[in-house]
Amino acid sequence: MSFDTELFTHYWHLVGHRQELSNPNDFVKFDTPLGDLVVFNDEGTLVAFDNKCPHRGARIYAQDFGQQPYACGYHGWSYRNGEVIIPNPAQFAACTASKPVLNTYHLDWCGDFLFVGITPLTSLAEQLCGLVQTLEDISFNISSRADFNRSAFECAWPIAVENALEPYHIPLIHTQTLATLGLAEGENVLDGCNSVWNAPVTNTRIAKQLMGLKRLFNIDYQREEYLSIFLFPFSMISSTFGYSYSLQNYFPGRDRSQTYFTSRLYAVPAASDNAKKMVEPFLASSAKVNRQVFEEDHAVCKTVAPEAWTMDPLPFASTLESKIVHFREQCRSFVALKSDRDVS
Ligand code: FES
Ligand SMILES: [Fe+2]
Repeated sequence: MSFDTELFTHYWHLVGHRQELSNPNDFVKFDTPLGDLVVFNDEGTLVAFDNKCPHRGARIYAQDFGQQPYACGYHGWSYRNGEVIIPNPAQFAACTASKPVLNTYHLDWCGDFLFVGITPLTSLAEQLCGLVQTLEDISFNISSRADFNRSAFECAWPIAVENALEPYHIPLIHTQTLATLGLAEGENVLDGCNSVWNAPVTNTRIAKQLMGLKRLFNIDYQREEYLSIFLFPFSMISSTFGYSYSLQNYFPGRDRSQTYFTSRLYAVPAASDNAKKMVEPFLASSAKVNRQVFEEDHAVCKTVAPEAWTMDPLPFASTLESKIVHFREQCRSFVALKSDRDVS
């Protein structure tokens, strides 16, 4: 297995929020280095699987997300209440050796955040380390998905992840978007394999406007600053003042020429119906700005030579790049751990 596939296989990955999959037949689909990954709501029970029909492998879900019962369009097999249903079982009377089942993956929760694991090395709580409480608090302050954005970044995933791990590029790359906040150097907190960056908004006009929005929301967790949480190895949550949250997944492509990027914007509860109406344009503009930021990131990531990334220590690391230093350490630790385990 390649390094990318090993990472995908042995860590938990944040794939969504409870609200996105709360109704029967709700689903969300991802491209991963192992092929498709789908999570769907089977009559109230969430199931994660490889999107392949156990009959002859037809893909069940074609869209990125939506609401659709599990039904194979090839020969009509379906799945409900944990059972594969064959339309005319008498035709399979000779196949008594085993019952068809889905190729399922592990699921676990941190608050209302849903994680998928293939064969994770540790429990989810161990992997999330000191971030469990923060993630629970954030997840309980999310009310709905406000935007779903997907594209393939034309670069290797560690290049996209490292770009997202450092604010050093903000003044040159995000001139009209993130840079307008005037984010201070802030503070990096390294937490197990994960890391957090929080930075005050120094543009006083914008900071004042943001403070003024507080009355529109009914939230019990907030940091009055910019917050960016990296969940090793592929996921990121960011927020300005806790008025919405952006979840980003940078899943490895089948090879290093692509990163399967998905971002979602989550809304937080509004203080009233009236406030909800006022929040709508704010959310729409946040979605638009976020999409622009990701396009700007994609454009610059494409310029990085693919072979420029290695997991060696950065030869020149600024104080704004300490999360990259930590990320590479985690990559090297994982390789060392795997080779120890493979030897023993
Ligand atoms: S491949 Fe799905 S029913 Fe045949
Ligand atoms: Fe960026």
